[in-house]
Amino acid sequence: MKNVLILFAHPRHEASRVNQALLESVRDLPGVTIHDLYEKYPDFFIDVPAEKALLDQHDTIVWQHPFYWYSCPPLLKQWIDLVLEFGWAYGPGGHALQGKQCLNAITTGGSLAMYCAQGSNVYSVNDFLRPFEQTAAICGMEYLPPFAVMGTHKLEVNDLKREVALYAEAIQLLQQSPSIETDEGCAFLTDIPALKNKI
Ligand SMILES: Cc1cc2nc3c(=O)[nH]c(=O)nc-3n(C[C@H](O)[C@H](O)[C@H](O)COP(=O)(O)O)c2cc1C
Repeated sequence: MKNVLILFAHPRHEASRVNQALLESVRDLPGVTIHDLYEKYPDFFIDVPAEKALLDQHDTIVWQHPFYWYSCPPLLKQWIDLVLEFGWAYGPGGHALQGKQCLNAITTGGSLAMYCAQGSNVYSVNDFLRPFEQTAAICGMEYLPPFAVMGTHKLEVNDLKREVALYAEAIQLLQQSPSIETDEGCAFLTDIPALKNKI
């Protein structure tokens, strides 16, 4: 079974409805570590050796965060900038993350319909996530389609419950599957056949 590291970044965790609920659904799963970056580093001083050691111990890395201005909150960017060092994560001799899986688990205020050429955000969330995809790629990681809960402002209680249950299913699937089959049609993790039939 794979070990999953959830790197959670939410500047206002106490005010979170969706991310908070997603986290609770996976908190007690064996082999899952939740690492709350804003709780650990309120001053933004990231302990790089400790973060590298944590990465070493896990097979799958999840960047879980609300979508803020089409990207991640700043502490996660700081984490990426400092922890994914040249010569360790990428570049000559930089093979520490080679072969690990990586994905974003995001929540967006905007609905899916807003994230397309005809919508107000013009581009898809996959387009906005390209820097994460390429960061993972250059570190030799397998970047998987994102898990996304969209339209959070209008999400009904039952829809939230369903998303939360799906997140737990998705994380367990990542733990149990040697590989995840994706193709061009998989914009989201929940598009893979093993999860699609759970929606
Ligand atoms: C500073 C800020 C920036 C945001 N930027 C975006 C954005 O670019 N796109 C979007 O769809 N929602 C955006 N939102 C809405 C959040 O993504 C949404 O409130 C959050 O995902 C809800 O999750 P939570 O209940 O865990 O806080 C933004 C919210 C804040 C506070």
